[in-house]
Amino acid sequence: TAAEKGGYEWFMTKEIEEQPKAVADTLLGRLDQDGHLQLDEMRLTDDELREIDKIIVIACGTASYAGLVAKYAIEHWTRIPCEVELASEFRYRDPIIDRSTLVVAISQSGETMDTLMAIRYARQQRARVLSICNTNGSTIPRESDAVIYTHAGPEVAVASTKGFLSQVVACYLLGLYLAQAKGVKYGDEISSIIDELHQVPAGIQRMIDEGDQVRKLAAELVDRRSFLFLGRHVGFPVALEGALKLKELAYVHAEGFAAGELKHGPIALVEKGLPMFVVVPPRARDQLQEKILSNIQEVRARGAYTIVLVEDGDDSVVPFADVVIRLPKVPTLLQPLVATVPLQIFACELAELLGHDVDQPRNLAKSVTVE
Ligand code: AGP
Repeated sequence: TAAEKGGYEWFMTKEIEEQPKAVADTLLGRLDQDGHLQLDEMRLTDDELREIDKIIVIACGTASYAGLVAKYAIEHWTRIPCEVELASEFRYRDPIIDRSTLVVAISQSGETMDTLMAIRYARQQRARVLSICNTNGSTIPRESDAVIYTHAGPEVAVASTKGFLSQVVACYLLGLYLAQAKGVKYGDEISSIIDELHQVPAGIQRMIDEGDQVRKLAAELVDRRSFLFLGRHVGFPVALEGALKLKELAYVHAEGFAAGELKHGPIALVEKGLPMFVVVPPRARDQLQEKILSNIQEVRARGAYTIVLVEDGDDSVVPFADVVIRLPKVPTLLQPLVATVPLQIFACELAELLGHDVDQPRNLAKSVTVE
């Protein structure tokens, strides 16, 4: 109803704007300044967590992209090998799991059948299951050994927005928690990450406040039928998420690629005027930055219309960008939390301009309760 939308035309716009709060609430009360974490719903003891020698993240759709971000953070902080797999593939391939495997199931609704069947399978194989979920008391957390709830509040729009950002935050919390349980020495990096996490809601707010730039861009590109998204490292899942939002909402062809894969195939798609979003890693990642810069040049030379998401103060890409979208400076691992926001706004606006139902895209359901 209109009242539930609180004056917004769509739940999705409301939920995009609730993201600073969703992220802050997911952090709330869980992290102290010394980097010590408290997770109430963690029913696995530190001893049990120390036995974990492999992590498999399973999820579907947008939640699986949160899982891809998690892999970078968890392996980096904990040195525990972490794989990410689509829930629908996981249990049909005879995966190697046992008591020392931690299966992490990510689901906003907690009712996604593919994910539920995957955790049931994992528990039959004696793996421990931790879920990251936004819906209290839903089936997936009820059937898990431990839960980290994301505190995003109810997500109504079919396209996940605040659900995704809060899942990413919960994955960071899990990574930091495991590092703590394992006794990985909390170096400067980890304490600065915790400080930076608390700054992120303000960065997300800024991306929302600057949304008009991408809304205008959507108006300019409203007749395009194909969009590509490029990223590296944690920018790769951001690219996948940007493309999925556009497919779901605007019903146009959109694909996300790891930038390094460009020359292994996708560059053949590039033709004059093709809009190409590129997520540039922070400058701290010099090597990656250099490489993505040459990717941008390659596609631009072939006529692509380049829309470059890049942190404040980094002007290296400006000569090759048709449009520059500025991101606040954050550590590389946290960049998805700010970089995803303009892509959500773009997809939402394009769908609206095309006259589509933003909250209820055709053929989709909010939670997919069939396999
Ligand atoms: C996201 O925009 C999608 N509608 C979809 O991919 C969704 O993320 C997926 O179905 C998983 O849902 P869940 O998080 O509720 O398990």
